[in-house]
Amino acid sequence: MEIPKIFYKVRIAYFSGTGNTARVANTLEKELTGRGLSVIKTEIRKGNFSSDNKVDLLILLFAVHAFNAPGIVYEWIDSLPENKNSPVPAAVISVSGGGEITPNIACRVSSIRKLEKKNCTVVYEKMVVMPSNWVIKTNDELAFRLLEILPSKVEHIADDLLAGMVRRTRPKFIDLIISRVGEMEKKGTKFFGQKIKVNENCSGCGWCAQKCPADNINMSNNKPVFGRDCCLCLKCIYGCPNKSLMAGIFKFIILKDGYDLKAVEKRTKYIKSAPVEDLAKGYLWKGLREYLLED
Ligand SMILES: Cc1cc2nc3c(=O)[nH]c(=O)nc-3n(C[C@H](O)[C@H](O)[C@H](O)COP(=O)(O)O)c2cc1C
Repeated sequence: MEIPKIFYKVRIAYFSGTGNTARVANTLEKELTGRGLSVIKTEIRKGNFSSDNKVDLLILLFAVHAFNAPGIVYEWIDSLPENKNSPVPAAVISVSGGGEITPNIACRVSSIRKLEKKNCTVVYEKMVVMPSNWVIKTNDELAFRLLEILPSKVEHIADDLLAGMVRRTRPKFIDLIISRVGEMEKKGTKFFGQKIKVNENCSGCGWCAQKCPADNINMSNNKPVFGRDCCLCLKCIYGCPNKSLMAGIFKFIILKDGYDLKAVEKRTKYIKSAPVEDLAKGYLWKGLREYLLED
């Protein structure tokens, strides 16, 4: 495929709590470099806010949190330099557990507005679906299908971008309202972090402090101490090597068996799948069903 000259240098900036969005970003990076593009990949985390806008295409990917982008993504966009010269084309890809259904449909609106303030022209939006890491577990058979289909979904996205396709969604009023209500979650995230409990299994290894994308955990006397900047990504709770961290509030959002993408992959490797229509019934799984069945 011939590469349009406008997209030669691409930045993939992504925020991922538990690895799903990182997986999408890595797959996309592989796809684009395989087509001869130069890709700079930036993980959005505190202390890593130095990206410039000097690329031909900016691709922003984030895990959907409460029908929006996580707050740290907005902070990252705010930190981008004003790009007063020529507008930078941008694509925004959200990675959810529920797919493109109400209440998720307006999840890219706020980040797009912020990008536009930085003189980015958002030409493309898309929802990618991965197994859910909060409230309701995606059953293993569906998780298998989502992981299996990811490379072809990403290939499709790369085809669209390189063909210069414009793809924008128009959320309904109700979706915009729900998304605004969801923004209130950002106030709760601060308390969530401060209320995380540490049990006696903690070995003081500092894994959580090293990995926290919000730089919200400090080690004191070999125990993690949580500040007020939690972005509720759940990386520390699910990833703790000793399983020593527990939610003190909003306990219902934590999956009973935790979330570990590699373990999901291992578990689902030999699954023989039934038809998607049988696996994903009802409104809750509508977005996922449509995602798996669309061309
Ligand atoms: C705090 C929180 C809020 C979430 N909110 C939503 C949501 O509103 N809609 C949805 O479909 N999935 C939601 N999810 C699920 C994640 O978007 C989904 O599992 C995503 O793939 C996780 O990506 P990551 O592993 O890169 O963090 C939420 C997850 C968390 C931790």
